[in-house]
Amino acid sequence: MRILAIETSCDETGVAVVDDGRHIISNVVASQLAHQDTGGIVPEVAAREHLRSLDAITQTALREAGVELRGVDAVAATVGPGLIGCLLVGANYARGLALSAGLPFVGVNHLEGHVYANWLYEGVVAPREPELPAIVLVVSGAHSDLVLMEAHRRFRPLGRTIDDAAGEAFDKVARLLGLGFPGGPLIEKAAKSGDPNAFPLPRATVSDRYDFSFSGLKTAVQRLVRSLEAKGEVPVNDVAASFQKAITETLAEKTARAAAEHAVDTVLLGGGVAANLALREEIAKRIGRPLVVPPPRLCTDNGAMIGAAAFFVLRHRGTEIPTTVRSDLKLA
Ligand code: KG4
Ligand code: ZN
Repeated sequence: MRILAIETSCDETGVAVVDDGRHIISNVVASQLAHQDTGGIVPEVAAREHLRSLDAITQTALREAGVELRGVDAVAATVGPGLIGCLLVGANYARGLALSAGLPFVGVNHLEGHVYANWLYEGVVAPREPELPAIVLVVSGAHSDLVLMEAHRRFRPLGRTIDDAAGEAFDKVARLLGLGFPGGPLIEKAAKSGDPNAFPLPRATVSDRYDFSFSGLKTAVQRLVRSLEAKGEVPVNDVAASFQKAITETLAEKTARAAAEHAVDTVLLGGGVAANLALREEIAKRIGRPLVVPPPRLCTDNGAMIGAAAFFVLRHRGTEIPTTVRSDLKLA
């Protein structure tokens, strides 16, 4: 089954053609640059940018796949969670395409997309599918969810952030350090030449065993930066490395503990923050085996992950996907 899939929930316009939920035939991603000047995403600007570029990106994705619209079996789009105006642009466009070509429309939960990015491959030989059950950590700009994936599309929530999402913490600390937006990759780069033990930072302990809290860490970094500024120049790389160590250790500790408690062999990661190599290494170290994770470009938002999830929506029952867009959709 060949699916044309559209992702517009935030600031990436992504369109892909994916076969049988796994094989990427084409995957075009345009990251909006308009937000770099504002240092964060302005929802109306993001929606307008999607509207401006979506049709051309869809044509490119079809051309790169060497197919026409009537050559696909279904059209999929993210219906939530995300910025409502952005979701509306993508979902309405996809619905229109499906209607015009007499194809089924498949609504997809963006967070299921991040999970199913772990099923994707690009080459000619299909790697083995991840085995279930699995512990999945989805860490993005708006979400930090730790779930037990019992079977396809069956997610049992274990924990989530009670305040900032992990990606949001990366973005806010990057702004404090004057590094730019989006912050995650810039922190990771700065941390490479910094000392992760330069500054002790708090690891939040949340009473509920698998929930996360990152606002205290962010405040601690803010205080640290202010006091360093008062003394002279801020050692940006050392602060970035110390912050990255604190946040990755917290995420990795709970992920590894959940895998041990549920006696699960498979650990999957998804979402933009999963692109972070320090996080991948820390988790692999704690579970004592190499991780199977999507390559960084499939961790951040893209159309292919929506094409993968759409296939499994058609194949397996699970949490119902609403027919209209919903900004607050949950994974489980
Ligand atoms: O999944 P995603 O592309 O969009 C959302 O669904 O939110 O995630 C974006 C988030 C941003 O906060 C960005 O700073 C973070 O992922 N991110 C990273 C890295 N690459 C992207 N965080 C840490 N390290 C990275 N290499
Ligand atoms: Zn995302």
